[in-house]
Amino acid sequence: MKGKLLSIEGIDGCGKSTHARLLAEWLRSRGHEVVVTDEPTNGAVGRIIKHALRGGLKLPVAAEALLFAADRVQHIAELIRPALKAGKVVITERYVYSSLAYQSARGLPTAWLESINRAALKPDLTIVIDLPAEDALQRIKRSRRLDRFESDLQLQRRVRANYLRMAKQKGLKVVNGARPVEEVQAAIRKIVETAL
Ligand code: TYD
Repeated sequence: MKGKLLSIEGIDGCGKSTHARLLAEWLRSRGHEVVVTDEPTNGAVGRIIKHALRGGLKLPVAAEALLFAADRVQHIAELIRPALKAGKVVITERYVYSSLAYQSARGLPTAWLESINRAALKPDLTIVIDLPAEDALQRIKRSRRLDRFESDLQLQRRVRANYLRMAKQKGLKVVNGARPVEEVQAAIRKIVETAL
């Protein structure tokens, strides 16, 4: 499994970071070189996005979508493509499907979102960690303050529905995230083992 791109997706609070880390540990124990990364990035564009999400900047939804796409272009050029070329497994927490799920839930047409993301490398595998929006919100509230998207339960419900629809239409793999961490991780490892 050399030079593969895996994306982990799901609503806010679904457990992406935990599972990306555990998956990376497991792949490393099997001899793979693994890079874990995420979007929005900490690059120049990613930092503007994060500022906006914390409420520091108000942007039209289309501008927000273009920033996510621009951040992704930089992410691919500076980190993802070089790592894949070097034969590494890249696990990214969020990628193109986040834009399709969130920015369409914020009212933008899917066809336009697909077109501004056309330059993005296709992931070899995308796993959606699925759970009800209410459960995910409770999890985040236990650990920290909510940002603009996280505190919008209706938005999270629409995002979840978008992920589940895309899973059916585009073959993303869904795991039930409303279970103990070990069970969810076991399901993810099984998918990675069979798919790659
Ligand atoms: P997230 O991965 O949740 O960041 P963190 O958990 O580290 O704070 O991403 C921040 C938010 O950005 C999240 O609500 C999803 C949203 N987002 C989009 O709306 N579109 C995108 O294309 C991406 C990558 C993220």
